[in-house]
Amino acid sequence: MLEKIENIKSEANLESGLIKDEKTLEEFRLKYLSRNGLLNTLFEEFKSVDRESKGKVGKSLNELKISLQKIYDEQKEKTVSGKSPDNESPDITLPGVKFNKGTKHLISQAIDEITEIFQRIGFQVYEGFEIEDEYHNFDALNTPDYHPSRDMQDTFYLHSEGKDKNYLLRTHTSPAQIRVMEKTKPPVRVIVPGKVYRNEAVSSRSLAFFHQIEGLYVDRKVSFSDLKGTLDYFAKEFFGENLKTRLRPSFFPFTEPSAEMDVECYLCSAKGCRICKYTGWLEIGGCGMVNPDVFKMVGYDPDEYTGFAFGMGIERTLMPKYGIPDIRLFYENDIRFLKQF
Ligand code: PHE
Repeated sequence: MLEKIENIKSEANLESGLIKDEKTLEEFRLKYLSRNGLLNTLFEEFKSVDRESKGKVGKSLNELKISLQKIYDEQKEKTVSGKSPDNESPDITLPGVKFNKGTKHLISQAIDEITEIFQRIGFQVYEGFEIEDEYHNFDALNTPDYHPSRDMQDTFYLHSEGKDKNYLLRTHTSPAQIRVMEKTKPPVRVIVPGKVYRNEAVSSRSLAFFHQIEGLYVDRKVSFSDLKGTLDYFAKEFFGENLKTRLRPSFFPFTEPSAEMDVECYLCSAKGCRICKYTGWLEIGGCGMVNPDVFKMVGYDPDEYTGFAFGMGIERTLMPKYGIPDIRLFYENDIRFLKQF
């Protein structure tokens, strides 16, 4: 019996070298390790081995069992892992997997570009809050209770904490002017890009939210011509050389005097086209000299300091620039639209 065990051991060792795939592995298992395999036959025979030899034969039989199992496990590992793609040499002639790289949204690109233009002339960037209170959005901006923009129809109110603390979604970036002046002494030179909300009917021209960039410059002897000079500089950098700007009288409670800012239509070089409605001019936002009453609200001395402020609509500026006919396109996330910029 001992001899038989030895023979089977060396036979199995030899055959282990022939295992090269799942089929030959299975053949090996059937021959040696299965229920009717050689190992079990030996264990059957072992029952009739006489008592003196049992110890020796049993030991040898157990060794055989261990070594057969070891051969099987090792070969199995090899044939199975040999199949995994990690072990195959890669086919370097296959075309690569293409990843579509995202790009910045057109609005983010414009905000980056505009803030950079103002940073070059010493403006700092401030972010402000999208959720504001009524005081910062209206009262401190000299916009009294009876002003129509405070109407529920125009403003998204959130909730109240007592009579004087009504929260709302900011209707413009101007409350950031107040936040900055409350915290800093002049000189102040900031711009504030961000989202604003108005309760408007959705159409190709308006949505319930859009983006603005606010500017504020306060120091001694800041004049209206500084405002005009800054606007000229911005228009030249953002829209193109040789484009004139103009200011038209307007009204905002927080600036006095106030104006609308226009830039010559860069699409038709001010000759008149469909986009500028044949006027040669495009409106980009509102502006003016900070109202002394606003300075009083934040504790600045209006006899010592003057300042200008402006607020530009980003979508409104981009739509003519790229001939975008509908404001909703900015927010639909249609790849065909987005990848053009
Ligand atoms: N906040 C004004 C608006 O939303 C724009 C503006 C900003 C006007 C700063 C004057 C000064 O229409």
